[in-house]
Amino acid sequence: MRVLRGIAIGAGAALAAVAVVVAMVEVAGRSSYADVALPDIAAATTPAAVERGAYLVNAVAHCPARHLPQPGATQFDPQRRPNLVGGHRWELAFGTVYSPNITSSVTAGIGAWSDGEIARVLRTGVRRDGSLSAFMVAGVGHLADNDIAAIIAYLRSQPAVNVAVPASRSNFLGRVVAAFFARPRLDESELATAPPTAATPERGGYLAHGPANCVGCHSPSGLRSAFRPAAPELAGGVPVPDVTDPAMEIVAPNLTPDPTTGVIYSWPEDVFVQRFRGGRVVAGSPMP
Ligand code: HEC
Repeated sequence: MRVLRGIAIGAGAALAAVAVVVAMVEVAGRSSYADVALPDIAAATTPAAVERGAYLVNAVAHCPARHLPQPGATQFDPQRRPNLVGGHRWELAFGTVYSPNITSSVTAGIGAWSDGEIARVLRTGVRRDGSLSAFMVAGVGHLADNDIAAIIAYLRSQPAVNVAVPASRSNFLGRVVAAFFARPRLDESELATAPPTAATPERGGYLAHGPANCVGCHSPSGLRSAFRPAAPELAGGVPVPDVTDPAMEIVAPNLTPDPTTGVIYSWPEDVFVQRFRGGRVVAGSPMP
C-alpha cells in the first residue's frame, strides 16, 4: 500500500513538473518583439538602385533559392528573376515551415508592409506582427542600409502575385526553440553604406558575412553547433539533408586557407570564378 502511494505521489509530481515546463514554453514561446525599433530606411528611388536590388536579391543573396516552391527553388536561374511567391516547404524536427510570399501582394505578400518593417525583418528577423523568424535570423547576413534600401525598391517594383502560402506549424520542440533559443539579431553595428564594389578584402568580407552569407553555411551554426566543439568561422558547415535524395547529406566545405583541409586553398582564381558562374553544380546542394 505504501509503495503504491509512493508511486502515485511520484507520478503526480512528475506530471506537475511536465505541466509547469509546458506552461513555461507556451508563455515564453509567445514573446513579441514588436518593440524592436524599425530601422530608419526607405526604399531607394533611382533605377540604378532598383537594378542593384535585383542583383542582390536574385544572385548574391539568393532569395529565390528559398522563396520559391520546390522544385523551382532548386533549379532557379538568377537571370530569370522569378516572382518570389514563397511556398518552399521544410519538414523539420521543429515542425513544418513554409517560406512566405514576398511579392507586393497586399493580401498574400508583403505589399502592406512599410519600408521600415521590411528593413527590420531583413536586419533583425522580427516580422511585421512582432513575431520572430528564426530563418531570417540565421539565413540573412548583416546588410548595409543602402543595400536594404535597394532590395526593398526591387521587391516593390515586382508584380503582386496573390498566391497564398499555407501557414507554418511548429510542434512542441519548435515552441521550445522559440521560447529559449531563438532571439532577434540586435547586436550588430549598423553600416550605412556597403564597401565600394572593388576586389578588396573589405568588399569580400562584407559579401561573405552580409548578402551572400557564405559564413552562415560554411561555418558550424544553428542549434547543432551547440552539440559540437566550436570551430573557426568558414571552417566548414554542418551536414544538411540532400533535397533530391534524403538518404544523402551534403556538407559545406572548409573555405579557410588551410593547406590540408581547406579545399580551395590551391584553387587558381579562374577555377573559383568558374565554380561561382556555374551555379548549382552538385545536385541537391543548397549552394545555388
Ligand atoms: C546555402 C548554403 C551555402 C551558401 C550561402 C554558400 N555555400 Fe558554398 N557550399 C555549400 C555547400 C553545401 C557546398 C558543397 C556542395 C556544392 O559544391 O554545392 C558548397 C561548396 C562550395 C565550394 C566548392 C568546394 C568544392 O570542393 O567544390 C566553394 C568554393 C564554396 N562553396 C564557396 C562559397 C562562398 C565563397 C560562398 C559565399 C559567396 C558560399 N560558398 C555560399 C553551401 C553554401
